[in-house]
Parts: sequence; C-alpha cells; structure tokens
Amino acid sequence: MIETVKTITELRRHLDQWRAGGETIGLVPTMGALHEGHLSLVRVARAKAGRTVATLFVNPAQFGEGEDFDQYPRDADDDAQKLENEGCDLLFRPAAEEIYPPGHVTRVTIERLGDILEGEFRPGFFAGVATVVTKLLLQALPDFAVFGEKDYQQLLVIRRLTRDLDIPVAIEAAPTVREDDGLALASRNAYLTSDEREIAPVLFGTLSQVAENVGRGASGNLRAEEQAAWGRDQLERAGFGKVEYFTVRDAETLEPVARASRPARVLAAAWLGKARLIDNVAV
Ligand code: PAJ
Repeated sequence: MIETVKTITELRRHLDQWRAGGETIGLVPTMGALHEGHLSLVRVARAKAGRTVATLFVNPAQFGEGEDFDQYPRDADDDAQKLENEGCDLLFRPAAEEIYPPGHVTRVTIERLGDILEGEFRPGFFAGVATVVTKLLLQALPDFAVFGEKDYQQLLVIRRLTRDLDIPVAIEAAPTVREDDGLALASRNAYLTSDEREIAPVLFGTLSQVAENVGRGASGNLRAEEQAAWGRDQLERAGFGKVEYFTVRDAETLEPVARASRPARVLAAAWLGKARLIDNVAV
C-alpha cells in the first residue's frame, strides 16, 4: 500500500531524500473522496515528475458556517488504494492539529480576486484555501503542484498567491474530467438524487452553449451579459434552485469582460437539491 505520512517532519524527510537524489517532485493537494478528476492530476504530475506526492486534508478553514464540513465524503482507505493504483509515491494525510496547532492565527487573503464570484457567495472560502495551500506548498516545496480547471477561480487564486508571496513552486493546470453526459466530476455530486443527476448535465451544456455564442459574436460586453442572463434562465427552467452566478469574465482577472479580443471564461455556480455545483468553460 502507498506509504502514508501524517507529520510535516516525516513529509520533509522523504522529500529531502528525493531532492538530494536529484528527483523532480510534483504535489497534488486534495480533500479526498477521490475520483477520476483527482486521479487525472496525479497522472499529470507523474508525467512530469520522478516523484509524486498527494495530500489528503479536509480543510476546516475553507468551510463556512452551515456548510457541509461534517457531511463531506471521507474514505481514506479507498483513497489510498486509488493513489497506490496510480503509482503515486507518497500520501500526506495530516490531522487538523498538524496543520492548525493551537494558537495558529495567520491567514492568507487575496484581495479582489478572492472576494468575487465564489468569494462573494462563500465568504472566507479563499482565505481558507489560500492559507492551507500556502502551507502545503511551503511544507513540501515541490517543483510544481497540480490543480484542476474545474475550480478555475481557485486555480487563479493559487497562481496569484505563489507570485505575490514568491513561493518557488510552478502551478500546473489540468483540464476538467467529465462524465459522458458532460457533468464535471465532483465529490459533492454524491449529494444528488437520481432525478437531480438527470438534470445536472444541463449546467455544462448551458455553459458550453453560452461560450460558443459569446465566442461567435464580436461585439463584447453587452452580448456577454445577455448570454449570461439566458444561461441563468436555462438552469432555472431545467429545475436548478438558486443560481448564485452565471457570468462571462476575463479569463485571467475574472473581471467583467472589457474587450471581446481578450480570452474569456464562462463560469457558474448553482444549487441542485443539496448539491452546490460549479463549473466553467473557456470561450
Ligand atoms: P478537492 O475538491 O478535493 O480538489 C482537489 C483538486 O482536484 C483541485 O485542484 C480540483 O480542481 C481538482 N478537481 C476536482 N474535480 C476535478 C475534475 N472533475 N477534473 C479535474 N480536476 C478536478 O480543491 C480542493 O480539493 C481544495 O480546495 C484544496 C485545493 C485541496 C485545498 O484544500
């Protein structure tokens, strides 16, 4: 079975040894309940690095009050088996006190980029993510770490913080892995009933349609907003609950699109029963 370490000291002991042997190290941070999306990140890491380290930590700091920290799916044995099968070299699975010992008060916050979209609807979420990812990157100091485009704003936040804090770790992006019907794989899809599961692919379908329409028109902002309003309406008609946002944004800053010539991204978050689904598509 894959070797598992629970302390930062043990983690560093392994990585120091590998580094001394001249090996390149790739890191894949996760919260477990691993699916093909997570495993695709491990494959990206293995293709680029001699050694691949996965982390499994359900980070309490990124769950808001009333969110699903207690219900979040956990199956560490199954996760370890999956990582073993992928040829991952090491699993770091710390307890909460290893990451947040008593007296831990430091927070990493990302202004603006961390306050909009996901940050608006989940206050404190990106501070929780940024704090734990900063810590994991500094604990392991890998050559690179891999994150999924599924969580596109998170990817941008992590790129931003490594630049701003001069953390010498490259951030690699991996494409979103989807079910055959387009639904992005996510641990929270487990919350969907079978009826909701039938509706869920409408999210990706609508994002794709809007991306195509916006990409075709060359007239910029106004059309983008019209298209996003249409997308929101489509989700509501299909049976989604609250659509928190459905929007076309600059692909690098996530600011509203200023010019049609800049790369853009269509992003949405919407509730379907007990599941909050997020997804995004490039224009
Ligand atoms: P988690 O939701 O477990 O996701 C771990 C990584 O897997 C993230 O980089 C995420 O973008 C990627 N991922 C999830 N679903 C994917 C899919 N369908 N296709 C491709 N990649 C996918 O994201 C987190 O955990 C946490 O916020 C974390 C970064 C670990 C910090 O706690």
